[in-house]
Amino acid sequence: DREAAVAQVQGLIRDIPDFPKPGIIFKDITPLLGDAEGFRLAVDLLADSIEGPTPEYIVGTESRGFIFGAALAYKLGAGFIPVRKPGKLPSEVHACEYQLEYGTDALEVHRDALHQGARTLIVDDLLATGGTARATGDLLRRLGAEMLGYSFVIELTFLAAREHMTDAPVHSLIQY
Ligand code: PRP
Ligand code: MG
Repeated sequence: DREAAVAQVQGLIRDIPDFPKPGIIFKDITPLLGDAEGFRLAVDLLADSIEGPTPEYIVGTESRGFIFGAALAYKLGAGFIPVRKPGKLPSEVHACEYQLEYGTDALEVHRDALHQGARTLIVDDLLATGGTARATGDLLRRLGAEMLGYSFVIELTFLAAREHMTDAPVHSLIQY
C-alpha cells in the first residue's frame, strides 16, 4: 500500500550530520537513487499524488530536480523543462534571483520553453526554505504557464516554506 511504499522510500534517505556546515543535517537521497525498486517507487508515488489534469510539462530545477523531474515526465508522457543555474541555457532566458543564507543565487529558464497556459508541475527533491521553489514558480508565471502545483520528495516542514507558497498546491511525499 501507499504507506508502506512511502516508508520504504523514507528508509532509503540517509542523514549526514554537519554537511555542508556544522549543525546542518543533510538529507542524502543517493541511497534512494541507487536502489532500483526505491527509485521507481518514489517516482510512482509522485505520479500517483497528482490530482486533477495531467501536466503537459514537468519543470525540474537543477540539479536534483532533474533526476526526479525527468523520470516523472517520462512516466506521465509529459515534456521536461530544465530550470538552470545562470549561464547554462543557450537561448534567451528569464532570470530570477533568490536569497540564500549568505548572498543571492539565480535561476534561469528559456523564454520559449512553453506555450501560454500550458499545464505545468514543478518537481524537486527537497523543499527547505522554499527559495528555490519560489524562484522557479516566479519564472513559470513569467512564461504564462498554468501552475498545477509543486511536488517534492522531501519537505522540511519546520521551515514552513509552504506558508509562502500560496500560488499553487504544494505536495510532498515525506515530511521531517
Ligand atoms: C537543494 C535541493 C533543492 C533546494 C531546496 O538544491 O535540491 O533544490 O536545495 O532548498 P530551499 O528550499 O532552501 O531553496 P541545491 O541548491 O543545494 O543544489 P543541487 O540541486 O544542485 O544539489
Ligand atoms: Mg536543488
